[in-house]
Amino acid sequence: MELKQAIRARVSTAAVTDQAPTDAQLRELLAIAAHSPDHAALRVWRLVSLRGADRERLGAALAAGFGDPAGSPEAAKTAAKAVRAPLLLGIVAAPREHPKVPTWEQIAATAGVVTTLQLLLFEAGFTAMWRTGPAIDLAEVRDVMGVAPTELLLGWLYVGGTAQAAARGGDPDVGDRLSPLPAADDRAQSPS
Ligand SMILES: Cc1cc2nc3c(=O)[nH]c(=O)nc-3n(C[C@H](O)[C@H](O)[C@H](O)COP(=O)(O)O)c2cc1C
Repeated sequence: MELKQAIRARVSTAAVTDQAPTDAQLRELLAIAAHSPDHAALRVWRLVSLRGADRERLGAALAAGFGDPAGSPEAAKTAAKAVRAPLLLGIVAAPREHPKVPTWEQIAATAGVVTTLQLLLFEAGFTAMWRTGPAIDLAEVRDVMGVAPTELLLGWLYVGGTAQAAARGGDPDVGDRLSPLPAADDRAQSPS
């Protein structure tokens, strides 16, 4: 798929099929995504893959973390969120002190890898939806995900086969998102 076409066609869908990339496919795509811009090549990111019953362990941790009574319908509803896709990729970043690369740049670099991986997965016939929410800070969830105290859990990519034909509208109107340097007496007029 040509690059512009792939970018325009990519969509995040909640509904996915049971098709998922193999670990070998995933590693290949991740190695390509790792070409994303990364100041000082710190590579502070890592991914944690969950398939099959591993997702149920996450689901149980979600329910426990949110305080759903064990065995309750609420707990079952919460736990079901972790099995919405055949493959979940936990996104973990370990920003570190660096004289030239502040934390925000390290997180931006992580997001660049994740976004590129989403695109590569889509091109390979899969959908990957990035989800976050308050669960990322729950002790139970961080524990089951193996996230160290020094690391950030930045959510999960929910990966599965494409369930529906990609339906994108036209390109967004970005007319007011690009402007020349404001005149010296007009500096407060940047877009909101
Ligand atoms: C960092 C990040 C976190 C997100 N978290 C959620 C989320 O928790 N729940 C959700 O429904 N969408 C979330 N989204 C948005 C979806 O992943 C998706 O991008 C959005 O629905 C737009 O669809 P599109 O990717 O097809 O344009 C998040 C996106 C990003 C970049």
